[in-house]
Amino acid sequence: MDQNQPTKIAQAKAVLEKNWQGGFTIPCEGLYPFQWNWDSGFIAIGWAHIDMERAKQEIRSLLMGQWKNGFIPHILFHNESDTYFPGPDVHASHLSPHAVSLPTSGITQPPVLGFVLEACYNISEDQELGFVSEVFDSVYNNHHYFYTNRDPKGEGLVYICHNWEAGTDNTPVWDEIWKNLDSPEYELNRRDTQHVDASNRPSNREYQHYIHLIELFKEWKYNDALIAEQCPFLIQDPLFNTMLIKSNESLINLGNLLGKKKQVEQLEKWQMLAKESFNQKLFNEELGTYVYYDLRNERHLNYVSSSSFAPLFAGIPTLEMAKKMVDWYFEKGTFSGNKDELLLCASFDPKSSHFDPKRYWRGPVWINLNWIIYRGLLRYGMEELAETIKKDTLHVLEKFGFYEYFDPRKEVLKTLEKGYGGNNFSWSAALYIDILKNTTI
Ligand code: DGY
Repeated sequence: MDQNQPTKIAQAKAVLEKNWQGGFTIPCEGLYPFQWNWDSGFIAIGWAHIDMERAKQEIRSLLMGQWKNGFIPHILFHNESDTYFPGPDVHASHLSPHAVSLPTSGITQPPVLGFVLEACYNISEDQELGFVSEVFDSVYNNHHYFYTNRDPKGEGLVYICHNWEAGTDNTPVWDEIWKNLDSPEYELNRRDTQHVDASNRPSNREYQHYIHLIELFKEWKYNDALIAEQCPFLIQDPLFNTMLIKSNESLINLGNLLGKKKQVEQLEKWQMLAKESFNQKLFNEELGTYVYYDLRNERHLNYVSSSSFAPLFAGIPTLEMAKKMVDWYFEKGTFSGNKDELLLCASFDPKSSHFDPKRYWRGPVWINLNWIIYRGLLRYGMEELAETIKKDTLHVLEKFGFYEYFDPRKEVLKTLEKGYGGNNFSWSAALYIDILKNTTI
């Protein structure tokens, strides 16, 4: 163990404490001043190690924003703040007949809540099912929402309709969609670039596309059927579907403990179809890994990003597929560079001309994706590589602090003094604690 780890763990706890708002945790002061969906999930895992009551409160606060149809929004505006754009007025969730009175966004984020609940249960000392039983139905309803509203072909694969739903906001994959989108050139009052260097964030043109999609959703009153029929961004995303499948698996485990027979049966049906379609439709034999499917234009988007490896976490590939993928992308160097010159794991294919090691989801290392891939590698018994990714993760967090994302280039890291994006970033702190504790889910 690194000598400084106890101090670092104390610092990680201090980050969560500082970002705690008495009921939920903001991802980062200024840059993200509200409650975010998948952030809260990862943050709850961190809290579970420190203070289980806060983990429960974090999840209860997130569920306060759940719409009547089971949908869980990506931002919940419990509080007021003018440091973020787009705020509640732009999202205007009240336009949906399903919305609740708490203002929220009208788009979602990767559904992590199922496996977060299982992680919290596993971390708890008493293995008491009271809290799981309190929230199980709400999380189940969220899965029901996805499979009944976001899977128009009944394939077991759900779509996302906005890049912010992916979580990987500006991955170069979306450039393919923006290319054909004639979004208005809105004057936008961006706040993110007042907090962090604009060269680390999406471009203004990209933001115009992001807002254009929201404007369309408002015109359609966030109606899922209209979105499925008309939205120019309609993607089956490997990371998003992996999160749902992993959460299905956790809900099946927890549902069995609770004796929820009917729901478990339904979850098992969704799960079987989902895994089968995932391997059939999203695995690209030539690339030897998972890619994206553009439902609107009926085409694959054949790009490799860190999302391509997330399926390991949910046990989706066979052992043979997993071995090939890992051998090609990690052992033979595509993601580690020719002479191990890159830290694992860059968020986008380092060999691509679109790779940008500094700009948000176009190349930098993200702690939550590292955590997902680390757990995935362990699931397949690939301990050595799992250790490398763990070591790389700890290295950047211990050297630079709890930043939002990091440059993957080892040579450049020698001279850098900090990470990129927001500092004191909650999920970086929460997952640092968890990765050292080795929770099993
Ligand atoms: C942002 O504002 O960058 C967020 O990722 C959107 O959810």
